[in-house]
Amino acid sequence: MDRRSEKGAGIYTPFILKLYDMWVLNISNNYAWRCNTDKILLPHFQQNMAKNHLDIGVGTGYYLAKANDISDTITLLDLNPNSLAAAKKRIGVHRVKHVLQHDIFTPLPEEEKGKYDSVSMYYLLHCLQGNMQEKASAIEHASHALSDKGTLHGATILGSGVEHNSFGRYLMNLYNKKGIFSNKYDSLNDLKNVLCRYFEQVNIQQHGVVAVFTATEKK
Ligand SMILES: C[S@@+](CC[C@H](N)C(=O)[O-])C[C@H]1O[C@@H](n2cnc3c(N)ncnc32)[C@H](O)[C@@H]1O
Repeated sequence: MDRRSEKGAGIYTPFILKLYDMWVLNISNNYAWRCNTDKILLPHFQQNMAKNHLDIGVGTGYYLAKANDISDTITLLDLNPNSLAAAKKRIGVHRVKHVLQHDIFTPLPEEEKGKYDSVSMYYLLHCLQGNMQEKASAIEHASHALSDKGTLHGATILGSGVEHNSFGRYLMNLYNKKGIFSNKYDSLNDLKNVLCRYFEQVNIQQHGVVAVFTATEKK
């Protein structure tokens, strides 16, 4: 694992993944980031997921497991083998077509390009090291996976231009210090500029301190 990427992906041990849904999707999303998982993020995921789908940064596979009537042709991409194993087990091997251990800072293999009708990246960008300009390559690589009519969708916690509450500030400082997050300077505007570099149509909504986005018509 590249040292830069290891920081954002290495934390997801089998033990941490057991706690993930409770700590991140339940407690942190409600009380720190103020963006409810089942009211905001899951519907966004379900609305934008297409039949032939690639998920980047799979974690525990929560959203994919809850979107079981939409797609049974799923590719999982993650740098961390623990996340890939946990998500595959949860979603069900019959729905997972392909599992790819890959660093999204690295270009995708040729056979993954241009073939997905939707690509998701939820809570991935704030884990990637560097500022939004440095994270642009991850968005560029995700865009390469899409078919011409495909949609990129996702969500990321912002660090700049938003009002964090005291719980959020505490977690932001801790996670940024440990390298679990790298998002102190991520603003909605920076995200928009990077998405607009690779897509004609970009839509971003802010819920609490989370930017929830879709991007279509890749350039
Ligand atoms: C915070 S979890 C998000 C999980 C899930 N998408 C969700 O929203 O609940 C971030 C995931 O991204 C993966 N990840 C972090 N850096 C990565 C990289 N450079 N390339 C690919 N995956 C990465 C981690 O291993 C982890 O599974």
